[in-house]
Amino acid sequence: MFIADLETPAIVVDLDVMERNISRMAEYCRSHNLRLRPHTKSHKIPELAKRQLDQSANGITVAKIGEAEVMLEAGITDMLIAYPIVGTGKAEKLADLATRADVSVSLDSVAVAEAISEAAKKRDARVGILVEMDVGFHRCGVTNEEEVLAVARAVADLPGLEFKGLMFFPGHLQVPEKERAELRAGVNDFLGASLAKLEDAGLRVDVVSGGSTPTAREGHLFTGVNEIRPGMYIFNDRNMVSVGVASIEDCALSVITTVVSTSVPGRAIVDAGSKTLSSDTHQVTAGKGFGMVKNDPDAEVERLSEEHGNLNIARSPRAYRVGERLEIIPNHVCTTVNMHNRIYGVRGERVETVWEVSGRGKVQ
Ligand SMILES: Cc1ncc(COP(=O)(O)O)c(C=O)c1O
Repeated sequence: MFIADLETPAIVVDLDVMERNISRMAEYCRSHNLRLRPHTKSHKIPELAKRQLDQSANGITVAKIGEAEVMLEAGITDMLIAYPIVGTGKAEKLADLATRADVSVSLDSVAVAEAISEAAKKRDARVGILVEMDVGFHRCGVTNEEEVLAVARAVADLPGLEFKGLMFFPGHLQVPEKERAELRAGVNDFLGASLAKLEDAGLRVDVVSGGSTPTAREGHLFTGVNEIRPGMYIFNDRNMVSVGVASIEDCALSVITTVVSTSVPGRAIVDAGSKTLSSDTHQVTAGKGFGMVKNDPDAEVERLSEEHGNLNIARSPRAYRVGERLEIIPNHVCTTVNMHNRIYGVRGERVETVWEVSGRGKVQ
């Protein structure tokens, strides 16, 4: 089968580019002695997680228990759930998982730690715990070294839990390199102060887990970090090109879409709307556009309806015609992937493999 045979819209992944992305990150981590724990929310496909593990990843990261279960079913047994597990039902599922796999979880409150401990005790399970720090993204995480120590101490004293170390997500560093370098100093101050506090208290820190795709190749510049968790790097996307950590040639994933209407002057309508691309905005040019049309920088994916992508082609010298196919690089691969049941792995024009996105919809 060839790409031209696929019904559109379809998500295709260029296998050569993806394989290069996987091996480059593995090589970077090896050369800096960093453990690699890729975030699999970016693909939600166990076969791809296994390819990452085969290339020297030490384990995987997931966001939800449902994703962890899909990965475990496929035989992957070392995972970090980088999300606070709140609620008795979830704590029990986590404890069950921990009887079958090596599972850690991040958290930022004693209350969450106590609930997990309760569930773990009942099942005689042991759950690894990373204390999450808010290093500036202001999402989850304790905000100063006193709180780091307080939560770490509580975790170390609770049965069924094993305090393993620290975790942070530098989401605010999804900016160009110069700004990242300035923001990194603040992150390092907090990391340094927290590690010193824990050391003074005699608490052993085995893991300091950081990293996102924009900061992945700077992992070695973060104080004490010995593990990184990039996710998007496997495919890359328009946002990663815009912050300068990938080129268009490094973007493995694209949406194949068909022009379905050109009747309105200055517009080309494609069959990839928000239910195909996702509505995630471009994070760099103040949210402008919903993707990048490959080979036509003058076309803008200006508006999305659910099933219509509305391209502004007024500035494009190119003639668009109904029935032709375009390739769009999405703004954010993770949310695009989550819209699709399957993804096609291609080499050249040939479809080599089809993956079911089995972690799709596992939001609990
Ligand atoms: C906790 C956590 N770790 C790692 C990642 C992966 O980072 P990126 O999406 O930049 O690859 C994310 C992404 O949202 C995350 O939330």
